[in-house]
Amino acid sequence: KLSGNVAIDGPAGAGKSTAARLLAQKLGYLYIDTGAMYRALTWKALKRGINVFAEKQLVALAEETNIYLESTTGGILKVYCDGEEVTKAIRQENVSCHVSAVARVPEVRRRLVELQRKMAASNRVVMDGRDIGTNVLPEAPYKFFLTASLAERAQRRYQELLAAGQPAALEKIKEEIHKRDVQDSLREVDPLQPAPDAVIIDTTNLWIEEVVDKMLSIIYERH
Ligand code: C5P
Repeated sequence: KLSGNVAIDGPAGAGKSTAARLLAQKLGYLYIDTGAMYRALTWKALKRGINVFAEKQLVALAEETNIYLESTTGGILKVYCDGEEVTKAIRQENVSCHVSAVARVPEVRRRLVELQRKMAASNRVVMDGRDIGTNVLPEAPYKFFLTASLAERAQRRYQELLAAGQPAALEKIKEEIHKRDVQDSLREVDPLQPAPDAVIIDTTNLWIEEVVDKMLSIIYERH
């Protein structure tokens, strides 16, 4: 029996959430999508008409907002904001475009990181995000950093949207994820970067199953 949590970080669209979900299923762990938490808060801020650069208002909002992730067997994750299901709503383009601004506020991060650590303390988890290996779970024994070329990441997002029957423009997607990566990498508090002890996996030319197999073999090898 394994012991210890798995941390997965990387830029937008590198395949983190799909890989994390599959890995969690195989290990019998809980999958925790921390990006969904930043997205839920952003969704609420936009709904309230709060400017994403109004730090104080965002901090107050983070304090009074109840964000809850429900993991069901099979790895399906539902996201709730103050009791309302927002699983789909938080994937809207408007949220994607503003989430990095919300996520750069230190006090907002502190509050969400506290929740994330609580979830990891009472469950075995596969957690994905931007600062999991560096900050949320620095003691996690298994850390991965997934990357892929910008062109490949944009292409994957594009195909996902098409498959879901949603309108999509490849160039626009490319721009949006690039902008988000720059913002996430350059912010002052807990920027996107690999932990020194993370295994870096370039997924550009890999199928998702290959990525998961790679992670599994590293986990069992170290065990
Ligand atoms: O993972 P996802 O792409 O849904 O994350 C959305 C945004 O949330 C990221 O672009 C980043 O700004 C923020 N985020 C973060 N720290 C995390 C997870 C996500 O800052 N651990």
